[in-house]
Amino acid sequence: MTIDLLNEPVRIDVHAGSQVAPIWIADGISERLGAMLDEQAIGTRRLVVSNPVIWRLHGERIVRALGAVEPILIPDGERYKNLQSVSKIYEALIRAGADRGSVIVAVGGGVLGDTAGFAAATFLRGIRLVQVPTTLLSQVDSAIGGKVGVNHALGKNLIGAFHQPAAVLIDPGLLATLPRREFRSGLYEVVKYGVIASPDLFERLLRDTKAIFARDPGVIMPAIVESCRIKADVVSKDEREGGLRRILNYGHTVGHAIESVTKYRRFRHGEAIAYGMLAAADLAVARGALAEVNRQAIARLIAQLGPLPPAVDLSSAEILDAIRRDKKVVDGKLHFVIPIQIGATVTIDDVTENELKAVLQRFGLKS
Ligand SMILES: NC(=O)c1ccc[n+]([C@@H]2O[C@H](COP(=O)([O-])OP(=O)(O)OC[C@H]3O[C@@H](n4cnc5c(N)ncnc54)[C@H](O)[C@@H]3O)[C@@H](O)[C@H]2O)c1
Ligand SMILES: [Zn+2]
Repeated sequence: MTIDLLNEPVRIDVHAGSQVAPIWIADGISERLGAMLDEQAIGTRRLVVSNPVIWRLHGERIVRALGAVEPILIPDGERYKNLQSVSKIYEALIRAGADRGSVIVAVGGGVLGDTAGFAAATFLRGIRLVQVPTTLLSQVDSAIGGKVGVNHALGKNLIGAFHQPAAVLIDPGLLATLPRREFRSGLYEVVKYGVIASPDLFERLLRDTKAIFARDPGVIMPAIVESCRIKADVVSKDEREGGLRRILNYGHTVGHAIESVTKYRRFRHGEAIAYGMLAAADLAVARGALAEVNRQAIARLIAQLGPLPPAVDLSSAEILDAIRRDKKVVDGKLHFVIPIQIGATVTIDDVTENELKAVLQRFGLKS
């Protein structure tokens, strides 16, 4: 692949009702942020929201691309994904004289994008939002699909909205500065896309692990593109999570529970999801829905991208408790996504506690 081809942006559209939310992906595209937004006629008043860590690393590049900007900076970290940070953003918007034609440009990972996105969804009943995701997880997942929101002291992601971005600009080059553990956390979501929809992506992850860790753009770029295609496709068919969008929750039932019982401290999101994917594959084998060789392939790939923080000291009773409280329980029914092949899943709603308990025990968790 030539450098030119790498730089030619790939466009993927998310269709949401009558709206189209385009995703543009190219190495170095953040350098052309201003020009891209001009071309798409996405506002002239652009207010950048970021955090100090990202701004120190990439602020200069954004300023070069957008012209003089005074960024609205909110503190870094999941614990600042709250209404106080949203309020800070509102205040800066009001002081800057933002109006309905203004655009929020969110430059950061999933925490920043969700928080700034929620401010965009609610300020003046909604202003336009451009996402410039800077973590692998946000590039393949959180910046796409229109879910925005913040945490409440009593629970994660309890406050939120659907607000499709006017554009998502994905620059894999921004990942060069991402800490390795954050990078790996995003890779597990890429594994998820492989298992739910693309045997080819799955195989490439297994085969090209080394090049992926070297962040070789020729390998990373196609993995991001394919992940975005899969998510865009699912969201376009089911924006509000009526059914199909649930397949994106593969690994997330047990994963969210593991995050919750460890108070979001021990695991990065993707790491918890990796355990969740292993658990769902195990349950699928126990039901005779998935061949053991496929479960082993999933386990091998996850191990190859590891290591994962240990989980054996967690209590299965606490995890089952957290699953019961999960948002994915609708009318008392738990919808559980299991793989039936590499590249295909089904959603079941008759998982019993005993089945789940057995899976967790096979993992070596204490009762
Ligand atoms: N909206 C959705 O659909 C959706 C989907 C999945 C996850 N999420 C949310 O996403 C959040 C997790 O996002 P995340 O994994 O991106 O974590 P994050 O936003 O906390 O970013 C991880 C760390 O990396 C830093 N960072 C970001 N980009 C960097 C770069 N290029 N170089 C160096 N450091 C960089 C961040 O400042 C932060 O310290 C969670 O709050 C989760 O709820 C939302
Ligand atoms: Zn996830």
